[in-house]
Amino acid sequence: MSRKRIGVLTSGGDCPGLNAVLRGIYCASEQLGWEVLGFRDGYEGMLADGGDTMVLNRENTAGIMQEGGTILGTTNRGHFTSKIAGGDKASISEEVITKASKTCRDLDLSAIIAIGGDGSMSTALQLYRVGFPMIGVPKTIDNDLEATAMTFGFDSAVACVTDALDRLHTTAASHKRAIVVQVMGRHAGWIALWGGIAGGADVILIPEIPFKLEKIAEAVQRRDQAGYKSTLIVVAEGARTHHGQQFRKQSTSGEWRLGGVGEMLAQEIEARTGKETRVCVLGHLQRGGDPTTLDRILGMSFGVKAVQLAREEKFGTMVSYQNYEVLDVPIADAVHRLKKVPPTSQLVETARAVGVSFGD
Ligand code: F6P
Repeated sequence: MSRKRIGVLTSGGDCPGLNAVLRGIYCASEQLGWEVLGFRDGYEGMLADGGDTMVLNRENTAGIMQEGGTILGTTNRGHFTSKIAGGDKASISEEVITKASKTCRDLDLSAIIAIGGDGSMSTALQLYRVGFPMIGVPKTIDNDLEATAMTFGFDSAVACVTDALDRLHTTAASHKRAIVVQVMGRHAGWIALWGGIAGGADVILIPEIPFKLEKIAEAVQRRDQAGYKSTLIVVAEGARTHHGQQFRKQSTSGEWRLGGVGEMLAQEIEARTGKETRVCVLGHLQRGGDPTTLDRILGMSFGVKAVQLAREEKFGTMVSYQNYEVLDVPIADAVHRLKKVPPTSQLVETARAVGVSFGD
C-alpha cells in the first residue's frame, strides 16, 4: 500500500508561529509514516499544473520553529479570496474549485490542513462543503477569530507593541511630547488593548469604543496639569470616531487597506492642546520577527492537533484553543463573525481603573 500523504498550506497575512505549526505537522506526520506536501503561496499553489508544492522533510523543517514568516510563502490576495470585510463573503469560482480539486485528487491527498485567519477559514469551509478533506488551523495577529480563545501570532504582535512603547516612553518624556502609536487591528482592538496596557499607554483607542477628539485632548491636558509631561496614545488602525468615521487608504481585491488615523490624531492633538505631538506607525513590524515562547508552543500544539484530526478523519473542523487545551470545533463556528473586544470586558475596566482613557 502506498504511503499516506497529506497537504498543508499557509494562507492570508503571515505571522510569527506559522513555521512552528509546519514543524509540528511534519514531526507528528513522520511519527505516523505519512508524507507532507506543502502548497506554495497558500491556496494558489493548488492552481499550478500538478500543484506548486514542496515536500516537507527533516532538513527543511529543522530549526524553523524559532523563525517568523512561513517557509511555504503566503498571500492574502488571489483566486481564493473569500472575504470582503468583516462578516461579508465572496464565493470561489467553479473554475477555480474544479482546478484545485483535480490537483488534490492527482496528488492523492487524504487531508488538507489550511492555516489561516477568517478569510482562509471561510475558503476552507467552502472547499470542505464541495468535498475537500479540509482541516483548519486558526492564525491571525489580530486575535479576532471566533471559536478559539487565542490564535498564535497575537502574543508576538503584542510583544512588539510593548517593546515599542517602552522605547517611546523615554523619548516622549525627554521632549515632553505626546506620541501617537498606530498598531494593527482592523476590526478588533485586542493588540492595542493588550499592548497598550502592557506598555503603559495613557490613552487606548480601539474599533469597539468610538472616540471623541475632545476627550483625547482633555486626557493629554489632564496629564500635563498633573505633572506628567508626556503622553502615549495607542490607536488601532481600525479605530473610529463617534461619527463612525474610519481612516482608509485604498481598496485592493475588495478589502480596504487601513491607515491615517494616527496622523490625523497627532495633528488634532497638537492643534487642540498646543503640545508637540509625533506619530509612530508600527505596521508590519508587528507581523515580522521571531515568535514568542507562547506562539511557538501554540503553533507546535496546533500542528500536532491538526494531524490528529486528519488521522481521525474529522474533516470540516478547526483546531481551537480553549481553557488551556487544544480542542476542535466545526470551521463553520469560526467564520463570518469576528471576535471583538467587549467594551465592558474586565481588561477594559482594569485599564480604566488605572486611569487609561478610551477617548469616550
Ligand atoms: O489581518 C491582519 C492584518 O495584519 C491587519 O491587521 C492589517 O490591516 C492587514 O493584515 C494588513 O495586510 P497587508 O499585509 O495586506 O498589508
